[in-house]
Order: sequence, then C-alpha cells, then structure tokens
Amino acid sequence: MSRRKKLYEGKAKILYEGPEPGTLVAYFKDDATAFNAQKKAVLEGKGVLNNRISEYIMAHLNRMGVPTHFIKRLNMREQLVREAEIIPLEVVVRNVAAGSIVKRFGLTEGDALPRSIVEFYYKNDALQDPLVGEEHITAFNWATTQDIDDMIALALRVNDFVSGLFAAANIRLVDFKLEFGRIYDQNEMMRIILADEISPDSCRLWDMESNEKMDKDRFRSDLGHVTEAYAEVARRLGIIKEAAVVNLDEAKS
Ligand code: TMP
Repeated sequence: MSRRKKLYEGKAKILYEGPEPGTLVAYFKDDATAFNAQKKAVLEGKGVLNNRISEYIMAHLNRMGVPTHFIKRLNMREQLVREAEIIPLEVVVRNVAAGSIVKRFGLTEGDALPRSIVEFYYKNDALQDPLVGEEHITAFNWATTQDIDDMIALALRVNDFVSGLFAAANIRLVDFKLEFGRIYDQNEMMRIILADEISPDSCRLWDMESNEKMDKDRFRSDLGHVTEAYAEVARRLGIIKEAAVVNLDEAKS
C-alpha cells in the first residue's frame, strides 16, 4: 500500500490521511505504555489484536445505533475511520472498583460499585490526566453542558452493550475509557461520535470465574503473558480461531 501522509502519532496508534476527505487511516502499533508513558515496551502482535477487537466492538456499536468513527478494517493493522475533532477528555465508566478509584476513595478492588460511575479526565500526559468536573470542562471550553450530557448518555449505552458482549464471552467488563470527537454534517450540524479504540488497552477485563486479568493491567503490573491474554479475549469473542494455549497463572510464579 502506498505510504500516506502521517498526520499524528500517539502512544499506541498513528493516524494517516485517508483516501477521501473526512477520513483517516488508523494504524495500530505494538507499542505499549503505562503511567503516562513512563513505562514503555513493544508487545509483538498487540496492534493486530487491538485492531481486530476494536473493529468487532465498534462495528457492533454502529449497528446498534451508537455513532462511532469506525468505517471498516483495511488490513491487519489499519482501519478506516471518520475524521473527528477530538474532545480532550478521557471518559471512564466503572462497574467494579479497580485502579485509581480504589486508591482515591479507599475502596476494595473487586467490589461492585453501587451503580455505574462515569468520570472525566483531562487528556494531558504532562499533567497525568487529572480528574475533572463539569465546572472545569465548561469553564475551559473543552466541552459544553450539552456535550457532557451526550457523552454520558453514549458512554452508558456503550457500557450496557459492551458489558453484555463480554459477559457472553465469560469476561467481566470492570471499567473502560472512551474518547469522543465532533463531526459536522453538510449543514454544519455538530454531532458527537465515539472515537479512538475499545480494546484490552483501554478496558479492564476479568475472567468471570477466576477474576484473572485479561487486559493492560498485565503490563502495568508485570504479570506477564500480555498479548496471550489479549489473544484469549479475541478468541472468546470469536474473532480469532485459536489462541496460544497459556495458563495465565503460570505468569504469577
Ligand atoms: P484508572 O483506574 O487508572 O483511572 O483507569 C480506568 C480505565 O481507563 C481502565 O480501564 C484503564 C483505562 N485507562 C486508559 O485507557 N488510559 C489511561 O490513560 C488511563 C489512566 C486509564
């Protein structure tokens, strides 16, 4: 494929100019980062798996009427997406206590939350993505009150649908992070759509029975077998036929 103009390189993806105006090509890298890029590694095959898993979820969401930037997968590492003006917020939905909320409020990891909680973080590595409230979001013009309402409604719809998708694969959707963007229709009408990716890089996924972690926490906490766990997620969703037979427990010893 002819090399396209690179528009942006992030930690896990590169965005190239798309074949038509208003489109981009997203290339999924094998690079893994954690703790705002303080920890880095290359995990061979991760990009291919995340491309496939994100395709699977986004295509389902499109069919369910949740607007996403996903158009189609182009090859093993690339997908065609709609160009959107990214809102500089990370929208996190939590169903079970894990990660930063455990530390912030002194919770116990694994406890079910009283209801699904939606949080906003300002997307800025240098500031370590601080938690923000509606006041900050509107005062600094990152998004309007209407945008916030739209993002919460979409995030909760994504949560309901994707929780079910994973539950059918015997996987618990503990929490996840979304990013949204704005697109403008012919008559300049603005719409918010889901952008970025939904993959084991951006979700916490636990085996329903054993609570074994099947997501980027394996990298963050040096549990080993990271790509094998991602492949197992893809296999259980029926995206790939076989995953290397690995016992995730082995990595702990
Ligand atoms: P947290 O518990 O560290 O706040 O993370 C919540 C969820 O968001 C978890 O599924 C991991 C995901 N996440 C990202 O995708 N990118 C990030 O930069 C951070 C901090 C979390």
